[in-house]
Amino acid sequence: MKRLTITMLFASTLLFAGAKKGEKLFKAYCWGCHHQTAEAFGPSFRSIANQRDKETIMAMMTDPEATAKALGYKRNSMPAFDDLTPAQMESLADYIMTFKDKK
Ligand code: HEC
Repeated sequence: MKRLTITMLFASTLLFAGAKKGEKLFKAYCWGCHHQTAEAFGPSFRSIANQRDKETIMAMMTDPEATAKALGYKRNSMPAFDDLTPAQMESLADYIMTFKDKK
């Protein structure tokens, strides 16, 4: 019984780990310029989630210069996040996508 409880705890932790990790990373790396639902220095995560896909969000972290241009921005004011691992970028993108409005 005890073992089952531990197994279940472990499984649910894994399930939530992705987006939860993304939330932590967001607070550390992005919150200065992006807020969840309100416009800040950069667009809100809600507006990003409603307009872009995961690939675009990850491209913006690795190559903001070229990606901003491709998205139609005249100039880029967002730094590249070279120190994030691909897994961290993926949790961030997953977290941003949780703000997409339900249709
Ligand atoms: C120094 C401020 C700053 C920080 C920090 C920052 N951004 Fe940005 N971001 C911007 C600005 C300003 C834009 C608007 C486009 C531009 O200037 O390149 C932007 C644009 C974006 C876009 C594209 C917006 C669109 O039109 O869809 C994404 C995606 C994005 N940021 C994600 C992130 C993520 C994820 C992080 C954290 C890892 C982050 N940003 C950190 C300033 C910032």
